[in-house]
Amino acid sequence: MSVLHPSLYALRDAFRTYVTAQAPDIEAFCGAALRAQHCEVALAVTDLPATQYLTGLAGMACPATLPIVDALLDAAPHLQWRQSYSEADDGFDAHYLAHYGWFNLIAPSGPFVSDDLRLSIGYWGKGLHYPWHWHAPEEIYLTLAGSARYISEGRADVSGGPGAIIAHVSNQPHAADMAEAPLLAAAFWRGDDLESKPGLPEESAR
Ligand SMILES: [Fe+2]
Repeated sequence: MSVLHPSLYALRDAFRTYVTAQAPDIEAFCGAALRAQHCEVALAVTDLPATQYLTGLAGMACPATLPIVDALLDAAPHLQWRQSYSEADDGFDAHYLAHYGWFNLIAPSGPFVSDDLRLSIGYWGKGLHYPWHWHAPEEIYLTLAGSARYISEGRADVSGGPGAIIAHVSNQPHAADMAEAPLLAAAFWRGDDLESKPGLPEESAR
């Protein structure tokens, strides 16, 4: 018997299909962990104000990412939506928090359990700026819909629309600017401390 809502299995299937067919970089990064037979943990469903904006994203996907976005829209009411930051963090005010949120699909804490991979999907409204941050796990971002200017220490900025892949090594500082459009992006993480809050600059970590 399925432990989770059927839409979550469909969303995981959509990611597996996309990575196999479209994203050799992500396949090399975490393909085996993505296709592993995960244990399942039914997490409490939580909503956030930002989820009301998700439906508009289907028109901002590309043909290859649209199946993931469609599956995500089906799953959205059955997910544990979360935020890493609060108004106590510099750069995050009430407006930001009303237009931002993420959920884990695969993570040590579930709903699909993996100690080797965290796959989280985040939404940021148009006009937001995700300040500099870093984390021990290596990361690949995949834009699913909308776009961002991905800012990473040590290289030129990248404007990344649907299908764009941006990789970060462990603890490489990075930021993202959503001045032009909202962003729906998947983040694939591997390494230690998969569920730790990202680090912020000293003056922000109040
Ligand atoms: Fe990151």
